[in-house]
This record gives sequence, C-alpha cells and structure tokens, in this order.
Amino acid sequence: MGGRFITFEGGDGVGKSTHISLLADSLRAQGHEVVVSREPGGTPLGTQIRELLLHGGDVSPRAEALLYAADRAHHAATVIRPALERGAIVLCDRYLDSSIAYQGAARALGKEEVRELSLWATENLLPDLTFLLDLPVDIAQQRLVGESDRIESAGMAFHEAVRAEFLALAEADPQRWRVLDVREDIETVSAQIHEHVRELLAP
Ligand code: TYD
Repeated sequence: MGGRFITFEGGDGVGKSTHISLLADSLRAQGHEVVVSREPGGTPLGTQIRELLLHGGDVSPRAEALLYAADRAHHAATVIRPALERGAIVLCDRYLDSSIAYQGAARALGKEEVRELSLWATENLLPDLTFLLDLPVDIAQQRLVGESDRIESAGMAFHEAVRAEFLALAEADPQRWRVLDVREDIETVSAQIHEHVRELLAP
C-alpha cells in the first residue's frame, strides 16, 4: 500500500481534533491527498453505531466492544484501506488502541482479547504512526464542553485506567508511538507533530 496511516489517541477532552485539522491543512498545502476520519463514526454505518454507543442507552461491556469493532471493520474496509491503496495519508481520530484502553483495560474485558478482535475486524491493519495526546485526567475533564456522553460520564477511575493503558501501550512500542504532553501550548505540540510526520514521510 502506498499511503500512510496515522492515528491520534488519548483520553476524552485532550484536543485531538484541533491537531488533526492543523496537520491535515499543512499536508494538503504540501500537495498530499489527506483523508481525515474518526472512530466511531467514520462511515454512514458507523454514524449509526456511534449513536447507539454514545447516546443509545445501556450497552453491556461485550456488546460495546463488538460494536466498536464492527464500526472499525467497516471503516477499515470501506474508507481506510481504499485511501491507503490510492496513496493518501489517512489521519484518524482514534483507532484500535482506543478499544484496548477503553474496553480491554478500563472495562476489564482483556487487552489481548480486544486487540485480537480488532485485528480480526481490520484484517491486521495497523497504523504507521500513532500520537498519544497525554493529559492528566482532571485537566482533561475540565476541558470537556457540553453534556457528557455515556463514555465521558464513566467516572475518574475509568478514565485513569484509560490513560494508564495508553501510556503503557506507547511505552511498549516506541517505534509506532509518539507521546505528546498536551499541557504545552497548541503551537508547541503542533510543531512536534509536524516534525514526527516529516520524518515518517521522508524518503
Ligand atoms: P470520540 O469521538 O473521540 O470522543 P471525543 O471527541 O469526546 O474524544 O470518541 C467517542 C468515545 O468513544 C470516547 O469516549 C472514546 C470511546 N471509544 C471507545 O471506548 N472505544 C473505541 O474503540 C473508540 C474508537 C472510542
């Protein structure tokens, strides 16, 4: 596949979408085809799954894991792989590491099982580069605006477990992950992201 697949991970309220759109703008200005997407909800089917997951009422933990995996399977097959095959750069707001952190660790469904589920769902499609936008949970919670969805309102211990698992995933695979401290201002973090992506794209 000719393209590059870059994912952005982190807890709720860490500012992923701001950095994705800054990066997308500058890559487009350099002449790249850029596809910006997100999980859950990067496809028409995914939009409906997202609604069920976040605003549809009670969802049991295993059903939750399967719904995120179903969203990912359809997204990988119909959006991400075709874009990579065209040579595009795909920037995705959350991907399988979110399932490992939220469902595998915080919901305690088993990190390895949840990873395997997502790898099966995507036929082993892994990102080339993953940014962890890291922020202490109390600061992240203060940054959230509007009414909380089902996951956002899961409580401090849940979100601490999510953060700890993201940090552990990043530490275990420094080749793929770059950890960014987003207490720094937006310009500083954005410059770091641009530098890492420049290295990835360098011939
Ligand atoms: P997102 O749209 O990124 O929300 P936000 O913009 O508030 O960060 O993700 C929606 C929620 O879904 C978020 O709370 C994290 C959760 N999530 C999982 O629990 N598992 C997953 O596999 C994914 C992709 C998201």
